[in-house]
Amino acid sequence: MIRWIKLVLFIGSLIPLGLLLWKFFGAHPSDMSTWGAGLGANPIEAITHTTGDWTLRFLLATLAITPARKLLHLPSLIKFRRMLGLFAFFYACLHFTTYIWLDKFFNLHEMLADVAKRKFITVGFTAFVLLIPLAVTSTAGWIRRLGGKRWQALHRLIYFSAIAGVIHYLWLVKADIRKPLEYGAVLAVLLGYRLLVWIQPVIKRRTESASQRRAEAVAQ
Ligand code: HEM
Repeated sequence: MIRWIKLVLFIGSLIPLGLLLWKFFGAHPSDMSTWGAGLGANPIEAITHTTGDWTLRFLLATLAITPARKLLHLPSLIKFRRMLGLFAFFYACLHFTTYIWLDKFFNLHEMLADVAKRKFITVGFTAFVLLIPLAVTSTAGWIRRLGGKRWQALHRLIYFSAIAGVIHYLWLVKADIRKPLEYGAVLAVLLGYRLLVWIQPVIKRRTESASQRRAEAVAQ
């Protein structure tokens, strides 16, 4: 069953790319003069936006797995987390490639100028770089090599990558900040859940020791 769901998830995760390619090549893929027409007046912008959006969506979906498996009592959801995380990285690679290849034509000088001039590029780049060690160490072999604790600590980098991704979006939009704020709100809920889980035992310990002190004071 899990294998079938994984297959469906894998195919489903490729649909945004499939649609992008479909729109790019159009109904006459052999006619180069029509390439990109299906993506509107600015095909490169359309590709950048679609791949950026999907990177963020997959990052949030990956982060949603832990709360979902706990709250819905579905521990097996963990089996899909790695795939979703790798798809986030896959779309981030496409997004980054669109920028360096289609947008900047590998012009390093222009890219460096862009990084200096447009701070949203620097944050986006940070978000991307943070995902690289996670993708590299996503295999069972790396979990064994690093040990569960260290692997988990390293994989907390995804929180910072997602935060940087939302800031990247927030800083690049000119007027309507509704969409980045929506992504930000979802991220806040997902990170807030983790904060609650982390803080709960601390609060419990404090209440327990306070009531123990009170009981001792009453007994004296
Ligand atoms: C994890 C990493 C990243 C995430 C999550 C991300 C996400 C996004 C999102 C959501 C958008 C807007 C999409 C929309 O308007 O619907 C976007 C746009 C964009 N991103 Fe990224 N991005 C990342 C990394 C990068 C990197 C590394 C670069 C280049 C160095 C980059 C360059 C751009 C550019 C040029 C735009 C379009 C800006 C414009 O419309 O003026 N992004 N990105």
